[in-house]
Amino acid sequence: MAKFIVENSGPLVGEVEVSGAKNAVLPILAATLLTGDKCEIYDVPRLRDVDVMCSILRAMGAKVTENWDEHTICVEASEITSSEVPYELVKKMRASFFVMGPLLGRTGKTTITMPGGCSIGNRPIDLHLKGLKKLGTRIMMDQNGSIDGIADHLSGSLIYLDFPSVGATENIMMAAAVAEGQTVIENAAEEPEIVDLASFLNKMGADIKGAGTDTIRIKGVKELHGAKHAVIPDRIETGTFMVAAAITRGDVLIKNSIPGHVMPVIAKLMECGAAVNDEVDGIRVRGDLTDLVATNIKTLPYPGFPTDMQAQFMAFLTTVEGESSVMETVFENRFMHVAELNRMGANIRVEDRKAFVPGNKRPLVGAQVVTTDLRAGAALVLAGLYAKGRTEVSEIYHIERGYENFVEKFTALGAKIIRVDEE
Ligand code: EPZ
Repeated sequence: MAKFIVENSGPLVGEVEVSGAKNAVLPILAATLLTGDKCEIYDVPRLRDVDVMCSILRAMGAKVTENWDEHTICVEASEITSSEVPYELVKKMRASFFVMGPLLGRTGKTTITMPGGCSIGNRPIDLHLKGLKKLGTRIMMDQNGSIDGIADHLSGSLIYLDFPSVGATENIMMAAAVAEGQTVIENAAEEPEIVDLASFLNKMGADIKGAGTDTIRIKGVKELHGAKHAVIPDRIETGTFMVAAAITRGDVLIKNSIPGHVMPVIAKLMECGAAVNDEVDGIRVRGDLTDLVATNIKTLPYPGFPTDMQAQFMAFLTTVEGESSVMETVFENRFMHVAELNRMGANIRVEDRKAFVPGNKRPLVGAQVVTTDLRAGAALVLAGLYAKGRTEVSEIYHIERGYENFVEKFTALGAKIIRVDEE
């Protein structure tokens, strides 16, 4: 297994270009199954998760052509030869579950296994199934967690989500796009990735209004056609590099970023004393102008502070003056990085869903640490850039699932990080 060796790096300086959003391109690729026409997706990040989704599309019978010089993927699902999603792909990536809605919409049936839980929580799918049932799907589940969905006819419905689940909103929206009649999703997720998916579906001929608000109205259409779409920039990669500039007291310009997608991260960095400016070709973050101080974070569904930035921001808060608190309200177990940061001397204590971060009373010291999930891994690298000495981050396949050219982008900013294969 590979690992990252990270050395204390001093201030990161320079500019970095953000890739297309992982959490937008995955549902958009799934949505291409809704038409037999060719779809072209641009600004696709080269990630392991994208490879898994392409394998799923091919397993369903789609022709998938990847052009990485152009960061383009073409999908032509002229016929669906199977609607049984291979277990070995579902267990690799929870987002595999996003193909359930499109398969029901296109073929009226699907067989898929329950996506596994992961280190951040048990990741239930009850809201996905509740919504798809309301659209007319019969769901049968066997004792091995295999789910059969049958939908001879999808018809629009009023669907209330008990929690604004991103995945459930996306799965329901994709099936409702070709259901008969109107569907209203209330308490829908409002993330930019939902808006990007709706924008792609509307280019395919869907009739979706309200994406980005808590109420999405979908008028089903008979058929969808091919479309071309450029994926939005990745707001979590944007936030990760913003925090990298702050934690190293550097000066970094993050290009191909959308300030409106990272407002909570901008606000919190400014509360800590970092300078954040929206410049012509990107967001410029400086952590070198004043002493940086504590703040309090509470993760919430969009537009609140993103749970996917919680670990990275916590790593930063271990380096500032004063005690901070970090409350995680979205996932029930997203503090796995605390134990690893404490191995570096962070001295964080957790009480239920709240972590108390004492700040820089004690300097962080490099250590051997383990990546437990994608964002925790990024947080440990950030801490290693700041800590005295050398940090070895293992299980880095988690990180490579969601960050394109991770080492190259950080090295170009002056980070001392190399990737080695563990003996
Ligand atoms: C998406 O996951 C993202 N993944 C996650 O990003 C992100 O953390 C999450 O949204 C929240 O923003 C992708 O888009 C591929 P949810 P998703 O359904 O859709 C509960 C990353 O690092 N819930 O919004 O799985 C659930 O338990 C990843 O890129 C139910 O109770 O998240 C959780 O507590 C990590 N029942 C909360 O909702 C359901 O049926 C949020 O989950 C579904 C979810």
